[in-house]
This record gives sequence, C-alpha cells and structure tokens, in this order.
Amino acid sequence: MSFASPTGSSSSSPPSSNIGDGGRSDNRKEALGWIEWGRGWCSIIGEFLFQRIAASHVENPLTLPQLDGVTCIVTGATSGIGLEIARQLAESGAHVVMAVRKMKLGHELIQKWQNDKSESGLLLNVEVMELDLLSLDSVVRFAEAWNARGAPLHVLINNAGIFAIGEPQRFSKDGYEEHMQVNHLAPALLSLLLFPSLLRGSPSRIINVNSIMHSVGFVDTKDMNMTTGRKKYTSLDGYSNSKLAQVKFSSILHKRIPAEAGIEILCVSPGIVHTNVARDLPKIIIAAYKLIPYFIFSALEGSRSTLFAATDPQVPEYCALLKADEWPVCAYISYDCRPMNASEEAHNLESSQEVWEKTLELIGLPPDSLDKLLEGERVECQYGSKGE
Ligand SMILES: NC(=O)c1ccc[n+]([C@@H]2O[C@H](COP(=O)([O-])OP(=O)(O)OC[C@H]3O[C@@H](n4cnc5c(N)ncnc54)[C@H](OP(=O)(O)O)[C@@H]3O)[C@@H](O)[C@H]2O)c1
Repeated sequence: MSFASPTGSSSSSPPSSNIGDGGRSDNRKEALGWIEWGRGWCSIIGEFLFQRIAASHVENPLTLPQLDGVTCIVTGATSGIGLEIARQLAESGAHVVMAVRKMKLGHELIQKWQNDKSESGLLLNVEVMELDLLSLDSVVRFAEAWNARGAPLHVLINNAGIFAIGEPQRFSKDGYEEHMQVNHLAPALLSLLLFPSLLRGSPSRIINVNSIMHSVGFVDTKDMNMTTGRKKYTSLDGYSNSKLAQVKFSSILHKRIPAEAGIEILCVSPGIVHTNVARDLPKIIIAAYKLIPYFIFSALEGSRSTLFAATDPQVPEYCALLKADEWPVCAYISYDCRPMNASEEAHNLESSQEVWEKTLELIGLPPDSLDKLLEGERVECQYGSKGE
C-alpha cells in the first residue's frame, strides 16, 4: 500500500487557527452546514455502493506478519469486527487481551478458537478481562489492573461501539449520552490511562475503530449530551457525533504526543459491515440488510483495515509525515487499507481543541494529564476506586 498525505477537495489545507493561539472564534459554529452535510452523506452512500470494488485489491483475510511478543488489547472482542480482529491477531502469535463485558462468552470463544487450531498444534495466547464502557469506574479498574502487571502494551484497539438505531435517548450511570460514552469518552479514558503500558511497549499504537458516519457528525462541546434542546436528539446524531468527537480528540492527542514517545494514534473506517451493530434496527431493515450481501462486508472483510493499521510497518512513518506537515487530523485508514481524508469538520482544529478539553473534564482527568503521563507520573482520575 502506498502512503501519502491525504488530499481532499475542500479540506486539504490546515485551518489558520492553531492550538495554542489562545483566542476562540466569536462566530461559533452551531451545526454542520448544508454543503458539508450533503458531502458527508455522499461519502456514506459512496462507501456503501463502492466499498467492494474499491477494496477489491485487498486480500481476504489479510495476511498478517508473525506477531510473537506483541501484546494487543481489543475491546468488544466477543462479536462482529472485534471478534475477527482478536481471533486473527491471536492466530498470528500475538498475546491478545479480550476486554469485554460478557466474560463467559469470551472464554467460550477462546476455547472454540483453540479447538479449531488443535490439529496445527498452535497454542493461542488469549485471555479475557472485564470492561464495561458504560461505566467509567470499570474503565479505571481495567486500566489499573492491566498497568499493575508492569507489562508492555503494543496495540490498543478501541473497537467496542454501539449504534442504538431508532432507540430513545439513554444515559449511562455516569450521566452521559450512551453513544458519546461508549464510542468516545470511555475509549478516550482507557487510552490515556493505559499510557504507562503503551510507553513501556513503545513503539506502540492506539487504533480507534471509527466510522464514515463521522462525516455527518457535529460536536457541540456545550451540549455533548444533546439535552439542551438546541438540537433534537436522534440516534443517528448520537452515533455520528460520538464518532466525530473521537476523531477530534485523537487528532489533538496525535499532535501532542512527541515523536520520541513512539505512540501512534489512528482512526479507521471498517466499511459497512454485517455485524450485530444493526441488532436494534427494525426487523424489516435487518431482513433487507441480509438481502444485499454484495454491498456489505463480512466481519472478516471489515476487520482488514483495523488489522492493517495495527500491524503494517509503514504506519509510524505515515503518522510522522502527518505530524511534520502539521496536518490537523490524525491518520485515518479507510476500509480499503488506504489513507483517507476525514471530514471537513474534523479538520477544524479550534473545535478539536475544545473537544479535547471538554473530554478531559467529562472523564475526570486534569487538563495536564497527558504531560504528566508522558513524564511517567501518575494521574488521579475522579472515577474508579477514588470515585467509589
Ligand atoms: N458494522 C458496521 O457497519 C460498522 C461501520 C462503521 C463502524 N463500525 C464500528 O465498528 C465497531 C465494532 O462494531 P461491530 O459492527 O462489530 O458491532 P457489534 O457486532 O455489535 O460489536 C460491538 C462490540 O462492542 C461491545 N460493546 C458494546 N457496548 C459495550 C460496553 N458498554 N462495554 C464493553 N463492550 C461493549 C459489544 O459487546 P456486547 O456483546 O457485550 O454488547 C460487542 O462485542 C464499533 O465501534 C462500530 O461503531 C461498525
């Protein structure tokens, strides 16, 4: 695969505002413009119609390098794309930690994978640890338990996600809109809290399984929960906004991590994939989903871009190139394992900085957390044992 700076029609040049310029624009944008929204939907429809053709050069399954000695944490590894990612990483020799809420199912899957491989004599190195992203306490407990081992972490794959299509607005026990918490806030907290282990494993990578739906998202940092009535809640907005928030947070993280730290952060679009993510759709739409298999990827196909981002040796070089160019968005790998340009709104560095600050506040971390973590210092989170 060849890597070059992503180029896009309208968002190819970084915006003039800088992270450190202090001032905030008075002309605060309150929603996505019609043109951006239309372009976003064109990208989504384009992905749906052409993903199979555009990704026809990508082998299925993707051939992975030998991963002995590599430790990977995969969230949401009991279903869909995450299950395929965890299985293939393990079969390539990696030590895989399935970070899941259904522990029993996790153990059953390991048993099944091991049985399937019994003839080859391959002994899989997979374990299950409990993680519920709907609880920030659970995220802190998970990170504390992992960091306490003093072991290196090479790849964190933030895969778990929800899209409660057509469902009414719901809030976690932490008080946050559920899409925002599961798809953005909890993975952001997990990524930062695992920094000590990622530094130990450096060069290491954080891969966020994002979505082309971020293209129709908009993040209002004054209303992350969508409760003020400024914009009526729909699950589609809840999902797309959370995915855009993840790109924006990751972009600031990418900018702030010095090259010497050796931690790369990437977002990935898996394509449009037949998984349980559509479980909440009306039955008639689920049936239609099954009738159009040509257009929709299998979970195996949908796992390729994430596995590529997690293992391809050219990735650090590409991330360094974006950093050197002061590109306003972190690396984004498309379903066809090629770099893609994130949405125009993702390039707005001023609002990405606001998302960064607001996210730290919501996940209970002090504003200087990243600096402290990079210095090897402890950071106190208001969640977890301290918050209980
Ligand atoms: N499928 C697509 O077309 C598509 C397109 C773009 C992006 N994506 C993204 O791909 C990722 C994987 O989704 P998928 O399609 O594979 O869906 P999926 O089959 O529904 O898998 C989602 C996984 O996330 C886990 N999860 C959900 N809520 C959780 C929580 N509170 N704590 C811990 N784990 C939780 C689920 O575990 P439980 O079984 O315990 O709920 C499940 O293992 C998501 O981030 C999704 O947004 C999917």
